[in-house]
Amino acid sequence: MYSRIIGTGSHLPEKVLSNQDLERMVDTSHEWIVTRTGIVERHIAGENELASDLALHASRKAIEAAGISLNEIDLVIVATTTSDMLFPSTAAILQSKLGLANHCAAFDVQAVCTGFIYALSTADCYLKSGRYRHALVVGTEVLSRIIDWTDRSTCVLFGDGAGAVVLKADSEAGILSSHLHADGSQNPILAVPGRVCNGKIEGSPFVYMSGNAVFKIAVNVLEQVAEEAMHANGMTPSDIDWLVPHQANIRIIEATAKKLSLDMARVVVTVDRHGNTSAASIPLALDEAAREGKFKKGDTLLLEGVGGGITWGAILLKW
Ligand code: COA
Repeated sequence: MYSRIIGTGSHLPEKVLSNQDLERMVDTSHEWIVTRTGIVERHIAGENELASDLALHASRKAIEAAGISLNEIDLVIVATTTSDMLFPSTAAILQSKLGLANHCAAFDVQAVCTGFIYALSTADCYLKSGRYRHALVVGTEVLSRIIDWTDRSTCVLFGDGAGAVVLKADSEAGILSSHLHADGSQNPILAVPGRVCNGKIEGSPFVYMSGNAVFKIAVNVLEQVAEEAMHANGMTPSDIDWLVPHQANIRIIEATAKKLSLDMARVVVTVDRHGNTSAASIPLALDEAAREGKFKKGDTLLLEGVGGGITWGAILLKW
């Protein structure tokens, strides 16, 4: 038994924040941002838009693309770092907004930018085991809420959005293997240290990142986990039709492609228009490429991500 992606969807908030807009907010330049990150613009959620709202739009599109009825969904997993509330989970809120209240299991997965890989892997285990038939797996973020808009070293990097997939238990090959890792000793280099305590926020509620340290680790672990996934399936880079990487920085994506000897023509890139949307970045990229007709049935896709924790992981699948 396998689990297979049968539909994708995504949603970006209407408001676009360009590098030129950022030039008016902090001491930066379009030139610096593009050269160092590849980012040109990103989307920012409206004041009243929550992670579950973005997730709702993306989910409806994914369910429509899958061609199944809503009540066939029997598992909802949401990957997010910017949940609507401390609790309940964004998955529970999404389940209710979809009209599936009291119909199926729903829970969140928190692995920051690797969240979607962790969530998809979790759903795959449930479906392969026969426990559920159709899972809705969503990555959704309103990162703009946890960004210090006066800190030029972080505010130019991130954006908001959501992506979703419907996964079906099937005898036909879909997800071939998933590979998850975490090194919690690295947690201080990328974190939002704040916590709610006795009615107050203790510690900074904004993203802190040691950019250089994250960069070095990211390039290394992404190569390692890609090799691990290919090795587990007896594959080499020439067997990979598409790399769908986490969209943090074009230089990280290009470095990974180079280390794997993958032509950039086989790499899905959206970072220029989305920025880093954390758990949403891989399903957003997946949906865009799918709707552009890039993937053919039977193509081999390698999904991979890295993020706070440090966490990292990869999924190898047949489209
Ligand atoms: N605009 C202009 N200058 C900036 C700037 C900005 N937005 N942000 C930082 N700078 C300056 C720094 O102050 C520094 O100036 P100095 O040399 O006078 O001290 C200079 O640019 C170089 O900074 P540095 O941090 O070394 O740049 P970098 O080449 O490492 O690029 C990142 C910075 C953040 C783009 C890069 O480290 C990165 O992408 N890291 C990984 C981030 C990531 O992927 N995070 C998420 C993982 S999920």
